[in-house]
Amino acid sequence: MKAALSIWLLVGSLCFFLAVACRKDDAISPGASAATTTTTATTNGLGALPLTATVPADNAATAAKINLGQALFWDPILSGSRDVSCASCHHPASGYADQIDLPIGVNGQDLGSTRRFHAPNGIPFGKRNTQTLLNVAFNGIGVDDVCNPVTAPMFWNARAKSLEAQSLLPIATLEEMRGHQFTAAAALDSVVSRLRRIPHYQQQFAAVFGDAVPITVTNLGKALACFGRTLLATDTPFDRYMRGDQTALSTQQVQGLNAFVQSGCQKCYSGPMLSDY
Ligand code: HEC
Repeated sequence: MKAALSIWLLVGSLCFFLAVACRKDDAISPGASAATTTTTATTNGLGALPLTATVPADNAATAAKINLGQALFWDPILSGSRDVSCASCHHPASGYADQIDLPIGVNGQDLGSTRRFHAPNGIPFGKRNTQTLLNVAFNGIGVDDVCNPVTAPMFWNARAKSLEAQSLLPIATLEEMRGHQFTAAAALDSVVSRLRRIPHYQQQFAAVFGDAVPITVTNLGKALACFGRTLLATDTPFDRYMRGDQTALSTQQVQGLNAFVQSGCQKCYSGPMLSDY
């Protein structure tokens, strides 16, 4: 009886061992990526985010430029009727997004889930749900860990390339920031003229860019993009686990991660951003 039990235990253990061994290729183990600070290897197309983002050669980050970008991000002066800032839709209290299905820009009031139009209203909702800006600095990063900030895809349908170019588009979009104040073609130049009349922006742009005419559409995009690249969330439990911290995920979470890989989710939700853009 005892001998029979031992044999069954032995057979059972062997089956368990074989089952685990056969799944080894798909299972994600901690430390799969190198525990370095700036680069990550990937396993099964997944990996930790780098801790810092690559910047374009002509838009290096400086503290003064980040401060300027932050001020602009929060300033409704960028909108036609001076009633919407970037933060109206990308608010830190809502994870740098909003909490409504479709965004309300011009003629909106309140923030988060209670944001609504003033009455009367002739402005439509935005066409797509607001994306978070967290980690937008890494848009385009692939399973190879390479990220080119100049060609980085932006928006749900990747119709804009680079944060510098994208950051200007909401200013010229009717329902987001422009309203009926300007035509789309005149929006950016009109906003730049406004900024040129404000002494603290004259000083800040001059200190940051040092050009003969520092307040330009291009420099507005550069400052906004420079601030956008500081909105990071690179220290999630998943990132820590992929950098080798075995305690970062619970057993159940690791099972979930393995199920995610085994069922092929990571073929589309791939790379350190879990996205194919
Ligand atoms: C009315 C709300 C609204 C305002 C105001 C707004 N955005 Fe957005 N933002 C959105 C929506 C909606 C999307 C997604 C649009 C799409 O894909 O068509 C988006 C997308 C983005 C993205 C792309 C994110 C990604 O992962 O691809 C960036 C960057 C961005 N916005 C920055 C800004 C900046 C900078 C400003 C201010 C100059 C701004 N937004 C103003 C609603 C807004």
